[in-house]
Amino acid sequence: MNCLYELFYNPVTLHKLVTTLEQEAAINQRIAASDPLNADVVFQRLPDWNERNESEEIRQALAGIIANVTSQLEWDYTSCSAAIRDISMLGAALIRFEREPEECVSGFSDALLALSTHIGAQIPRDSFIDYTSRNPSGARERTFTSTPQEKIFLNSLRQGMLALDLCLIHLLTACTFPIASQEFASSVHTATSSFQAMIAAIVQVKREITPEAFTHYIRPFFEPFHIAGKGFSAPSGAEMSILNIDQILWGADCTDELYTTYFRANIIRLPTVYQEITQAVVGQKSLLSLLKERITLGSALNREERRSIQEIHQLLTRMYTFRMPHYKVAEENVLLRQRECGAGQEIRGSSGFGLVETKYVLDQTIRCRHITSEILSSL
Ligand code: HEM
Repeated sequence: MNCLYELFYNPVTLHKLVTTLEQEAAINQRIAASDPLNADVVFQRLPDWNERNESEEIRQALAGIIANVTSQLEWDYTSCSAAIRDISMLGAALIRFEREPEECVSGFSDALLALSTHIGAQIPRDSFIDYTSRNPSGARERTFTSTPQEKIFLNSLRQGMLALDLCLIHLLTACTFPIASQEFASSVHTATSSFQAMIAAIVQVKREITPEAFTHYIRPFFEPFHIAGKGFSAPSGAEMSILNIDQILWGADCTDELYTTYFRANIIRLPTVYQEITQAVVGQKSLLSLLKERITLGSALNREERRSIQEIHQLLTRMYTFRMPHYKVAEENVLLRQRECGAGQEIRGSSGFGLVETKYVLDQTIRCRHITSEILSSL
């Protein structure tokens, strides 16, 4: 076996991370089931208040909820996380009326700071996982609007989050084996199958949510708000575990400033296990760097190597099949906002980044596919 294909990560660490990651779905379900602030009833009314522009009702509901927080700091991770989710969503609803929650609701910032410090979160507000996987489905679902489009959006994102976690679990598992092995190839194959739900999600969203519906009814609830005087951006798709998948494929040793800035700003908004995966991977050679080294060897690929590289190529193809239409969807929304806001206005996604980063990860996916394709056709 070629020395380039010896294990490059510590398999014991990776196995532990996979086990922890497998437990995340259950943690998310517990948080979704939790209503520590008795906010279910508030969320049943929130879409109505939003649609009737009754911002004062929202403010009062949030103030009532905050009053329940202060005495509860013996709460566990589940309750604190559910409370952050609920307080932040109501804060986001207020911001849409240009009412800064910390200015009109006493104790707003203190509550979010105390809850996030208590659970060791790196940012004191909700992130994408709160709006999606940690948001209960059914009668208790938290939505800003009563539009069918928001439900479609939310369900697509939930499916996407699950798909990405499964994909990541299998990709990490692959990395516990040498590249030139059947086990590596089979695990990458399963990772690729898991990714399919991302494509289904974007196809559904593209078909059923017009740029107008998203821009006018959903996007306004994803603006930054202030906590103790500092602005914190809203949840965004940039906080999905595709960050870790990219990192393993091509990002671990990528030093482009645009990428590293984007990566660092978003990874801290994911739960701890995703940051631990980052620690295990960062600075190591990415899979694509290893494959590029393989080209320089020039010798023919053996059967296992060929199959593994074909499987990596398939995964990149699947990611491209998601990213290309997704970029178009994102771009259509940005262009609509530009038309509506007037020229010269800088349009950003809810993460606070523009479209440049989304285009960058798409381009990296294309570039990596060229490399795998070149290896498969030349060696
Ligand atoms: C109307 C539908 C959608 C719009 C307008 C949209 C828009 C955007 C924008 C503007 C970004 C840049 C980051 C930011 O938000 O600041 C982004 C990133 C992202 N979004 Fe979406 N998105 C939509 C639906 C989806 C869906 C359904 C998924 C997956 C199930 C998804 C997954 C992602 C991912 C993974 C990123 C990070 C960039 C990447 O890795 O390719 N988005 N999206």
